[in-house]
Amino acid sequence: MTYMDTPPPHMETLPPLLITGAAGMLGTSLIRLCRERDLVHYAYSHRELDITDAQAAEALLARFAATSPRGLVINAAALTGVDRAEDEPERAFAVNAQGAANLARAAAQHGLDLIHLSTDYVFDGSQRTPYRESDRPQPLNVYGRSKLAGEQAVSSLHPTALIVRTSWLFGHGRSNFPARILELALNPLPEDPGQPSPLGPELRAIRAISDQVSCPTSADALAKGLLELYRRGARGLFHLAGAGSASRYELAQEVLAAAGLQAEIIAIEGASFPARASRPLYSVLDCAKARGLGVELPRWQDTLHLYVQEHLTRHTLG
Ligand SMILES: NC(=O)c1ccc[n+]([C@@H]2O[C@H](COP(=O)([O-])OP(=O)(O)OC[C@H]3O[C@@H](n4cnc5c(N)ncnc54)[C@H](OP(=O)(O)O)[C@@H]3O)[C@@H](O)[C@H]2O)c1
Repeated sequence: MTYMDTPPPHMETLPPLLITGAAGMLGTSLIRLCRERDLVHYAYSHRELDITDAQAAEALLARFAATSPRGLVINAAALTGVDRAEDEPERAFAVNAQGAANLARAAAQHGLDLIHLSTDYVFDGSQRTPYRESDRPQPLNVYGRSKLAGEQAVSSLHPTALIVRTSWLFGHGRSNFPARILELALNPLPEDPGQPSPLGPELRAIRAISDQVSCPTSADALAKGLLELYRRGARGLFHLAGAGSASRYELAQEVLAAAGLQAEIIAIEGASFPARASRPLYSVLDCAKARGLGVELPRWQDTLHLYVQEHLTRHTLG
């Protein structure tokens, strides 16, 4: 984390936090950070709070406000499966738009602050320069449309909420892109008879898309950045992602380099990869607004190397 100056004195401490979606990638990083920093926090997984249940959300936030009148709610809950959202659009909107609205309404009513997360996939990728907060969103898929609807609901119901768009997260769990590349490199799949592999007769090569570019972002670094942005008084819409940019192909190569693994990666075009949702070819986020407040995430390569070492220790050494 690169912080260019110290926080204003009145913001030095953080209020108690209530975290939704606590078992997800960002939720896990937030909880870890709270424990490290000894911050008062209450964390609720999907099982413990379904944010689509307006009454449950309202009751929980009312109880939180009663004990923590200036508390901060962080909504890390979302339906994040981009292809799944195409198949379940109603569910995607229920969680990403209505669920976000439920939290925003209850937080505003009880005088609680709110940080809500959104995505680079609100953009269509037609730009070739990093997207600013003021650029026009035009999502290509259901996930992006549902997240944009969530942003709009949050900003109208809770005008002082901090809404942070981020991109290509990696962290806890095995379902993020770097984790899947490690899995494939360590356990190569048997060859598909239809697609002979350059790795040899029995191994299938790793394929990674070379024409989708964004900002790989460490969930741990994002968690720190979110709290720091909030402490520095950021409210409204901000972009916050790992510094730099990469294609999926470049990201896969860096994962292998960080792990010291040899495996061949074949660069493919997104159009040749069978996915249900369209994805933007370019969704690099311009984070200058956050930088203006002294908050900048580290280069994605640096956090990726730390992540890979930790992941290998946890998942391959037991
Ligand atoms: N992952 C990325 O690459 C990425 C990129 C850009 C922006 N973001 C945004 O960053 C935020 C955090 O993403 P993440 O990667 O940490 O997501 P994640 O790992 O998928 O975690 C999301 C969590 O939300 C939970 N959840 C789903 N529906 C819920 C509901 N109705 N009520 C309560 N919890 C529910 C999920 O639980 P179940 O699994 O049990 O359903 C999961 O634990 C999201 O707003 C996401 O849109 C993510």
